[in-house]
Amino acid sequence: MSEEHGTLVKTPKQLIVVCLIALVVPVAIALLGAQLLSGSKHIDRSEPKTQVEQRIKPVGELVKYDGAPPPAPAAVVAVALVAKSGEEVYNGACVACHGAGIAGAPKTGDKALWAPRIAKGINVLYEHAIKGFNAMPAKGGQVALSDDEVKAGVDYQVAKAK
Ligand code: HEC
Repeated sequence: MSEEHGTLVKTPKQLIVVCLIALVVPVAIALLGAQLLSGSKHIDRSEPKTQVEQRIKPVGELVKYDGAPPPAPAAVVAVALVAKSGEEVYNGACVACHGAGIAGAPKTGDKALWAPRIAKGINVLYEHAIKGFNAMPAKGGQVALSDDEVKAGVDYQVAKAK
């Protein structure tokens, strides 16, 4: 009886088994290796959920408020929505008319035109700027401005007329 080259694979069935092992073993090793690498080194599953949320939270949050800014922690994220300065309000909503004195608007920086208006008292000017006054539209037509922002715009113009 002659052993054919002494090979272990003698039947088609054995061949299939060997092929399967050759396929499965490397995959298993690869999976195990991946598990070892990612599982133990990169993801710390014991990390508290809140810490993870803290780390992946969006950079900004919308915080809208009227009047005084909210207390310290919220103020940090509120920066993006902080009220516009008087100059920003003026340049965005008022300069169109007041810059050149269009349609009877008192020209910014014209002391003679502003003196009688300033004499009415700042609160009257605030009210007229917020609610409108003759050809002066409420909030200069920009209803999205807060009252405080419009007041800052008034302050800006009043300061320029002094
Ligand atoms: C569409 C043009 C227009 C825009 C925009 C505009 N104004 Fe006026 N504003 C006027 C006119 C016209 C008057 C004069 C009204 C009058 O005296 O009859 C006026 C008057 C004023 C007065 C004087 C009110 C008074 O009682 O004498 C203030 C203060 C004022 N505007 C503030 C502002 C501010 C602040 C803005 C921007 C947020 C602004 N205006 C945007 C047209 C405009």
